[in-house]
Amino acid sequence: MDLIAALEDIVPQLADGLERATRPEELEALRVDVLGRKGRIARIMSCLPELEPGARPAVGQTANSVKERCNELFEARKAVLEAAREAEALRRFDPSMPGRAPWRGSLHPTTLVTEEICRVFQGLGFDVASGPEAETDHYNFASLNMPPEHPARDMQDTLYITDSVLMRTHTSPVQVRAMLASRPPLAVIAPGKVYRRDSDLTHTPMFHQIEGLLVGDGVSMAHLRGTLTAFVHAVFGAETRVRFRPSFFPFTEPSAEADISCCICGGQGQIDGTGCRVCKGTGWVEILGCGMVDPAVFEAVGYPADVSGFAFGMGVERVAMLKYGIGDLRMFFENDTRFLGQFGA
Ligand code: DAH
Repeated sequence: MDLIAALEDIVPQLADGLERATRPEELEALRVDVLGRKGRIARIMSCLPELEPGARPAVGQTANSVKERCNELFEARKAVLEAAREAEALRRFDPSMPGRAPWRGSLHPTTLVTEEICRVFQGLGFDVASGPEAETDHYNFASLNMPPEHPARDMQDTLYITDSVLMRTHTSPVQVRAMLASRPPLAVIAPGKVYRRDSDLTHTPMFHQIEGLLVGDGVSMAHLRGTLTAFVHAVFGAETRVRFRPSFFPFTEPSAEADISCCICGGQGQIDGTGCRVCKGTGWVEILGCGMVDPAVFEAVGYPADVSGFAFGMGVERVAMLKYGIGDLRMFFENDTRFLGQFGA
């Protein structure tokens, strides 16, 4: 048996096999077959003890040299296949494909509506004002003509921090702060968070309001109506109608509530024969409270008795629900991006 010839045969046979192999598994199978623990070289070497001792070194040297050449063949074939794979990947890469657009955030509908309303009033000459959310009893109630026994101060409705400090229940205290900070004439619009001990389907413990106040010489109910009608037309569309109903607020006299024709059913009270659920079939929805500033409030801020002014306050979430046709108040607070994403620019 010529072990040296058998060993030498392995090299060209492996070269042939490698030429046909294209996948890493095929390469590995060939490697095990030739160089593995029970591979061809190992099997040939297991015959070594049968040789005369003098003939053994030559066979051993041949085995080493064959192993070395086999390894070189494997490395060379591996490099060729690797290069081919890279070329194929490059061929498939299409640099002209459009990139994936990054996910873009959008403003919250509460923010959008707040900004829109403030823009409308700024266009009419109002300045934007603000005040603290933790307020004193004095600014939130007393100065607004709600003396200590007034039912609006009820613990049931107000989140108290101490006996005299509370989370403001409305943005009306900003009226008082604005009047104390300057002299008439003045016109301010004050957006902000307000807090009430209330939580159910249609009430949240925190929501947003926008307060308005205009004080000057000879300000009348007609100015109030004209200003609020302009606001409604700007935000809800020129076809929207406005009506004022008598109402009561401690800090205004006379007081009114303003309704707008329902923007969901167009004021018809019904859609395709079924009653509109937003205006409950009436064709009108309430949107704000307003009135002529009560003389008691002017007195609390030390304004002269001959000034006059109007004030109004509205809920931002409510305006947003009507404007966008959102049926559920909870949508504003759940931060579901599928909902919020619909208000993007
Ligand atoms: N502060 C009132 C509320 O939270 C809303 C309001 C009504 C504000 C009439 C006003 C106003 O300025 O004149 O319900």
